[in-house]
Amino acid sequence: MIVGVPRESFPGERRVALVPAVIPNLSKAGLEVVVEAGAGAAAGYPDGDYIAKGAKIVSDRAEVFRAADIVVQILCYGSNDKTGKADVPLFRSGQVLIGFLRPLGSIETIREIAAKGVTSFSVELMPRTTRAQSMDVLSSMGTICGYKAVVLAADTSPRVFPMLTTAGGTITPARVFVIGAGVAGLQAIATARRLGAVASAYDLRPAAKEQVQSLGGRFVELPIEAKDAEDARGYARAQDESFYKRQRELLGKVVAESDVVITAAVIPGKKPPILVTKEMVASMAPGSVIVDLAGERGGNCELTRPGEIAVEHEVTIIGWFNLASTVPYHASQMYARNVTAFLLHLVKGGKLQFDTDDEIIRETMLTRGGEVVNARVREFFSLQPLPAEVKEVAKS
Ligand SMILES: NC(=O)c1ccc[n+]([C@@H]2O[C@H](COP(=O)([O-])OP(=O)(O)OC[C@H]3O[C@@H](n4cnc5c(N)ncnc54)[C@H](O)[C@@H]3O)[C@@H](O)[C@H]2O)c1
Repeated sequence: MIVGVPRESFPGERRVALVPAVIPNLSKAGLEVVVEAGAGAAAGYPDGDYIAKGAKIVSDRAEVFRAADIVVQILCYGSNDKTGKADVPLFRSGQVLIGFLRPLGSIETIREIAAKGVTSFSVELMPRTTRAQSMDVLSSMGTICGYKAVVLAADTSPRVFPMLTTAGGTITPARVFVIGAGVAGLQAIATARRLGAVASAYDLRPAAKEQVQSLGGRFVELPIEAKDAEDARGYARAQDESFYKRQRELLGKVVAESDVVITAAVIPGKKPPILVTKEMVASMAPGSVIVDLAGERGGNCELTRPGEIAVEHEVTIIGWFNLASTVPYHASQMYARNVTAFLLHLVKGGKLQFDTDDEIIRETMLTRGGEVVNARVREFFSLQPLPAEVKEVAKS
């Protein structure tokens, strides 16, 4: 069985889906790896390192798709809305595709993938369970994004982060406030603390309080309670506009007193709520920094310019996306380990197993046999549930 790794084609993307170090593990399971020439170069993994671990390098992208029983990408068609479409003619029926497919994005795009007869697995749909932890790409990339957000903020801020007692007097520590304490937010708190800042955070999920505190952050409590804050998967539930309005009012004072605000408050499949208004930005001290990790989907800050850096009221607002790609060596390593764990789960005894009684397979499988087979995605797009016989085909 051959696993193909095409070079990532999204503009500016520097990661690669598999790194040389995982190849021996795949070989042991009977999987051969074919890599497009130069695929790992921008992440610090030259072709020679892949060859040394037993992979084959192929210069023609189409040949990688032709040879592969399983194609592994990071931003494949779905999340790659710039250049991903060019890969669609290269997919072949019965082939497996693994990557970020943006399953709650565009149903037309998912149907295009389905129509090619590809069995696709969307890494965003991985259950957040202990069993699937080693395959949890969202956590891996969230960790990198949270770290990088703080590094960017520290580099942009005119202040130092730690408290320093110097010949020039005592410097007070920077105050970093994180809104949305999921994986990225928690890593932002940990990184800000390591740099010596005073870190605080807010999240509408009550469970986040203990996690923030365990990292040495202060949990900001607001006198409002979200309705059904958390769904069964642990994700926050969208709230109504009156809730967000009240949140903004209550967050105003904390934002005004912060040197750095990092926003990472998202709800799967929804536009992120605006939690930092232009008035709140104006209330911050000159030189303050906002890093909006929700920038890709519009942002949590009203003045974020998605993909860009904006300076408004002397506050720098960083709305870059795809921060994980700016730390490509480790982001690729983590992605590769997660995907390898998934591949070893999917391929048993040298054969692909599509056992949809298995939660990991069932929840991540997006398309099979020409259909969009994922129940959560079908429900999200208000499609009829699949008839039982199609479900049986998906299993086989
Ligand atoms: N293996 C595991 O068990 C495992 C691994 C990783 C994550 N998780 C859980 O999965 C869930 C999702 O984590 P994630 O990092 O993907 O989250 P996410 O990226 O979907 O969301 C980021 C954070 O924003 C918060 N948020 C949303 N709207 C908000 C608002 N209006 N105000 C304040 N905060 C708001 C969410 O509660 C969440 O904590 C969490 O419960 C996390 O603990 C579990």
